Amino acid sequence: MRSKTLSFQLTIFESFAELPKEDLELIDLALKAKENAYAPYSNFKVGAAVLLENKQVVIGNNQENASYPSGLCAERVAVFQAGAKFPGIPIVKIAIVASSESQITKEPAAPCGNCRQSIFEYENKQERPIELILMGGEGPIYKCRSVADILPLAFGSDFLKK
Ligand code: THU
Repeated sequence: MRSKTLSFQLTIFESFAELPKEDLELIDLALKAKENAYAPYSNFKVGAAVLLENKQVVIGNNQENASYPSGLCAERVAVFQAGAKFPGIPIVKIAIVASSESQITKEPAAPCGNCRQSIFEYENKQERPIELILMGGEGPIYKCRSVADILPLAFGSDFLKK
């Protein structure tokens, strides 16, 4: 028997001044996208901005539904739109910002499990890490080097190879 420790490094930025211009611009686009979230049931708005290798940015925001499970998270709206509009163009990074109308989120909300899995699909396909930049209503900004870091033991297409 043996045990294995899986760990990952999170980079924490205490202020915007510590971030490069490219990240600030992407956060800004995610913030703008968040404004147009359709979240009448949770009042929790999320915006995502996907930067592609060709420098195009594709945005997404959460879209809720009276039949709750029919809604979709911001991250998946964004990456699916990127896949539809720019097939085959690798994703470099995604900025994700979230805020609630009922409380101030002082820490970034990390993508839900389904979104991690969906983003991982693209990371696996493009064989290149997708960086995540996460921001809450206020407080620090987190950066993850790769979505695989926050989805240990991920299930991917390799298991389905014939
Ligand atoms: N939500 C996202 O858009 N992204 C996440 O990663 C977590 C949750 C949305 C889904 C729903 O509209 C609301 O936040 C509350 O769960």
